[in-house]
Amino acid sequence: MPSMLTDVFRAHPISLSHQTHDLTSLRQLPDSFTWTHEDDLLFSAASNDQNTLPVIDLSDHAAAAAIGRACMSWGAFQVTNHGVPLSLLDDIESLTVSLFRLPAHRKMRAARPVDGVSGYGVARIASFFHKQMWSEGFTVTGSARDHFRKLWPLHHLKYCIYSYPFNSDVIKEYEEHMQKLATKLMWLVLSSLGVTEADIKWAGPNSDFNGAQAAIQLNHYPVCPEPDRAMGLAAHTDSTLLTVLYQNITAGLQVFKDGVGWLTVSPIPGSLVVNIGDLLHILSNGRLPSVLHRVRVNKNRSRFSVAYLWGPQSDVQISPIWKLVSPVEPPLYRPVTWKEYLRTKATHFNNALSVIRAHQQE
Ligand code: OGA
Ligand code: NI
Repeated sequence: MPSMLTDVFRAHPISLSHQTHDLTSLRQLPDSFTWTHEDDLLFSAASNDQNTLPVIDLSDHAAAAAIGRACMSWGAFQVTNHGVPLSLLDDIESLTVSLFRLPAHRKMRAARPVDGVSGYGVARIASFFHKQMWSEGFTVTGSARDHFRKLWPLHHLKYCIYSYPFNSDVIKEYEEHMQKLATKLMWLVLSSLGVTEADIKWAGPNSDFNGAQAAIQLNHYPVCPEPDRAMGLAAHTDSTLLTVLYQNITAGLQVFKDGVGWLTVSPIPGSLVVNIGDLLHILSNGRLPSVLHRVRVNKNRSRFSVAYLWGPQSDVQISPIWKLVSPVEPPLYRPVTWKEYLRTKATHFNNALSVIRAHQQE
């Protein structure tokens, strides 16, 4: 498990008021879960605009150009024919559903420790809000084995000696596929900016980013008695290079588009949602937006998602790529490591990018 992530989250112990509740047992929305515009300046309803997030077929020869356009205007897109076996997506979904269906006291056995990042708990961004979010999460960094042993003391082998493929651990398989896909997407995005493998030394001799680091975030948004007043996951950008998200067929994820507002990302079975994170925004010298996104909940269907949060090795200095900098386009950001950026985010949340902004000479 990357110790850097542990360091960062140590700064934000979960306060008593943000402990997990068994949301499925609540028949009414308690005050502490009722959001208004005052709790989140971005708490506005979704737009009626017909704009939709681009859907890109990764097997299409025109995929690279389409990804470039989508990243410029949205900072996100959906991808089909991505090469991740659909059976693996089914497997990770079943695992996620089984995990969150466990009784609360069982999930608490694998609770995220106050000084840790891995395990069961409220949304990672909960400490920035007074109101509670209508969701529960489970973060995995490194091996999931110890967690699963606590959750399923007798049956955890079911998930370790899993049927997909060659009887190995489903989380591990998922991580391996995601890492390959994230690397491929990263190069497609970079090449749309005219950046080649030779331009990024820290990508290593195999251009695989030297096994960059990642966390897997499982999310559950239970059915909610008053969805219009609740918030599943408040508006945020991801502190990643990029994030690859699998969502089940229940809608809820929304992205913010300038000039339009909040738009729901319609789930397409078997597809994955990709979004640019803050670090890729920095690398692109501000050309690619790290998209603001959130999750709304609903009355009839629970929602599950699996986010693959992908970032660089912890000691790599991330700064605007030299090819994207010129006398007329000076670097917008100073160099920052992922570790430092996560710390900044843990203190400044959605203002973290402005803290990293380079001071421009007058
Ligand atoms: C996240 C996230 C969206 C979702 O975990 O960072 O944005 O649909 N999740 O759960
Ligand atoms: Ni996110």
